[in-house]
Amino acid sequence: MSLDIKVTKTTEPRERPQDESKLGFGRIFTDHMFLMDHNEKEGWHNLRIVPFGYLPIHPASTVLHYGVEIFEGMKAYRNVKGEIVMFRPDENGKRMNNSAERLCLPEIDSQMWMEILDTLVKMEKDWVPYSEGSSLYIRPFEFGNDENLGVHAVHNTTFAVILSPSGAYYAEGINPVKIAIESRDVRAVRGGTGYAKCGGNYAASLRAGKVAAEHGYTQVLWLDGVERKYIEEVGAMNVMFKINGEIITPALTGSVLPGITRKSCIELLRDMGYKVTERLISVDEVIEAAKNGTLEEFWGTGTAAVVSPVGWLSYQGEEYTIGDGRIGEVTQKLYDTLTGIQWGHIEDTKNWIHKVC
Ligand code: PLP
Ligand code: COI
Repeated sequence: MSLDIKVTKTTEPRERPQDESKLGFGRIFTDHMFLMDHNEKEGWHNLRIVPFGYLPIHPASTVLHYGVEIFEGMKAYRNVKGEIVMFRPDENGKRMNNSAERLCLPEIDSQMWMEILDTLVKMEKDWVPYSEGSSLYIRPFEFGNDENLGVHAVHNTTFAVILSPSGAYYAEGINPVKIAIESRDVRAVRGGTGYAKCGGNYAASLRAGKVAAEHGYTQVLWLDGVERKYIEEVGAMNVMFKINGEIITPALTGSVLPGITRKSCIELLRDMGYKVTERLISVDEVIEAAKNGTLEEFWGTGTAAVVSPVGWLSYQGEEYTIGDGRIGEVTQKLYDTLTGIQWGHIEDTKNWIHKVC
């Protein structure tokens, strides 16, 4: 497939960040972005790369009133060979289409998805950071853009991709974060939109995140929305516990986002010889393990968060230290293996790496 993408180059290129240690996450954007529109008659049309800038939007646009929006998150890395690569971008394309189905938004053909990403990232390749640990964060998103206030599946959609040279998602970097188990608010319920990557899930999470931050916690660990008994996931990552030598991660029950890092880590851990179990795991089981010392390690997995150790966990006013509060052995090994594949230190025997240029 060769897409007809109209390219309008910027006449005012921005200065690229000199000090990559100060990039932060999602604060700086590249010179260009991708846009296209969809309606029933024309399908996807008006494919264009334009200078990065504001989007004109009708005040009655569906997204502004009813939050009809889905997105993805992936990264482009500059590997040790100097190539620009992405990690399993086809998986993000599949998840984007699953999210689209849930929100009645149009899907994107897999070849089209790859060609759009390749074209934009290649054009912006000079923006991919050089220092290991920093990368070009890729944020595709799609939103309902009907210009009326009716509540119904949308007829007009806009899809965009923006790029942001970024460092670590958490200010802590690879150092352990503090997580608070949330007992009041819930993020998602089965039958809802938990498994979809839609903006509304994040909107619903903000109050608990704000309260947790006020108490010194980096993120919230969600419990299931019905019984408030089973562990689901953290705001921007899936979770894994090492209890008595076994690695346990919550099963994908419909209210948890099926993380691509999660899926990759399960495979890597099993290759390393660990027993990994996907099942319901109750908060009581985790707290009991934390109390009796069998909760050996606890970490999160995600594109932005990579593999992130959790050092402290709070629940109902008590704080528990995981291990000795430092990164655990398996967490470190998993981080090194995953980032080793992404940065090209470790051979990609699984065909997870997609070379852009
Ligand atoms: N869970 C939530 C709520 C997320 O936002 C993310 C980030 O994308 C993840 C899990 C991890 O998913 P992935 O590994 O595909 O980035
Ligand atoms: C990601 O890891 O890509 C995410 O989307 C997490 C978050 C920034 C919402």
